[in-house]
Amino acid sequence: MAPLSSSLLSIGLLAASLLSLCSAKDVPETFVASEFSTWTDSYDGSKVGRIVVDLDDGSTIDVARLDLVGSASQRGFAAGKLLADDIVEFVDVKMNEYFSGEVTGLDISSLPEWLQEVLQPLIEKGGEIAPQVFWSALNYVWEREVEYVPAPIIAEMEGIGAGVCASDSAPADCDADEWATKIKNINMLPELVRMACTAFGAYGSATPDGGLIQLRSLDFGSGPFANYTVLQVHHPPEPAQAFVSLSFPGFVGVITGVSEKGIGVSEKVWMTYDTPDIQPGSYDGLADVLVIREILENAEDREAAESYLQSVARTWTIWLGVGDYASQRFDLVGYKQKDVTVYSDETIGQETGQPLLKDICYVDKHPQPSTATDLPELLQSYAGNVTFGAVQDIVQQHGTGDVHWASYDFLKKKMVVAVGRVDENGKYQHDSWKAYGRPALLFDLEDLWAGK
Ligand SMILES: *[C@@H]1O[C@H](CO)[C@@H](O)[C@H](O)[C@H]1NC(C)=O
Ligand SMILES: *[C@@H]1O[C@H](CO)[C@@H](O)[C@H](O)[C@H]1NC(C)=O
Repeated sequence: MAPLSSSLLSIGLLAASLLSLCSAKDVPETFVASEFSTWTDSYDGSKVGRIVVDLDDGSTIDVARLDLVGSASQRGFAAGKLLADDIVEFVDVKMNEYFSGEVTGLDISSLPEWLQEVLQPLIEKGGEIAPQVFWSALNYVWEREVEYVPAPIIAEMEGIGAGVCASDSAPADCDADEWATKIKNINMLPELVRMACTAFGAYGSATPDGGLIQLRSLDFGSGPFANYTVLQVHHPPEPAQAFVSLSFPGFVGVITGVSEKGIGVSEKVWMTYDTPDIQPGSYDGLADVLVIREILENAEDREAAESYLQSVARTWTIWLGVGDYASQRFDLVGYKQKDVTVYSDETIGQETGQPLLKDICYVDKHPQPSTATDLPELLQSYAGNVTFGAVQDIVQQHGTGDVHWASYDFLKKKMVVAVGRVDENGKYQHDSWKAYGRPALLFDLEDLWAGK
């Protein structure tokens, strides 16, 4: 049975690869980010700037940039002060609008019963009271997890609160403690509202030069997120290392990023087709996004990242794609509260149920095991030929990455990023508005580490 079905599968893959070669759509344009970047202000050695690209369709790629130096609290303070306008608008205005729209879909089943009893009647009231519901739930998660949070992370969050209130545009009666609390709470959003994504790493025989190309796409649906994209580069003191994080104002946790020593992380909520679709977890541990942040800042290589994942107190199940410069290899880590399992291109099929591809380790955007065939077919059609151009075609055809996607080339030390476009209601009016259909930005990672 097995040999028969796998040979049928390879015929299917062959046919599909011929088909997709004929049907490959043109990929959107890529702009060299440095040609569209300007620094606009600085404080204590840290800088803020913007990348602005006006496109032919009348829309704009507009990404904020932060280049942060010094201790955790100095970097936090500079981020708060330099980006205060965006932080205040995002956290105080846009997130509340978002919460009002999302409240009926908020799954509170992972919260303790007493809190569910408080929140459920409020949820039923709907929109107006929604922000209060979300902030209460976020605050609960923070209070529950705080004992696991490393001191420098807390110092950075408190720095942001102080920085916001020290800025020229601070809101009236700005209270640094209150802002620090908001920052701590908003960083718990990915613990409460889980994110679907696609991840793969292709290397060795799968790429033209044998180097590692990694993809991380973020599918998070509607909301203000794409409009408030911040590309932040941290230069912490040694022995920590520089890293870049693609996130949102006030976010200290990392959802997408790569470090100077070459650890790239892709993260995906690990859903299954079982009921409940989220695997067991709890809020007794370090938030997933802070675990990723710790890896980027501190892990020397893939092995160090993976042993850290084994040792840390874990909360919720996710897939983590981990690649590094040293080996130019990529693993997918099945990260659960109860255990951590590292999968390679040769073993990942045990969990995904999908065909194995030599030197390509991948997990598609669906719950696992996935019965969809489009991602393996696309990857197979690019075997030996995975480049940034291929990645752009693959995300577009697989339809993954609405808020943003990023891809890292670990040999050339480049990064490509694309960000979605949303209307005033935070909606993508067309698939071409999602990040996977949008023009991309190309970054030289060495420039980012050099503070350029
Ligand atoms: C890689 O892509 C190029 C351009 O599409 C094509 O000419 C070439 O045949 C491909 N190589 C492989 C190994 O598929
Ligand atoms: C996002 O930005 C676009 C372009 O500036 C704007 O038209 C839209 O209203 C914004 N949407 C949100 C939710 O902020």
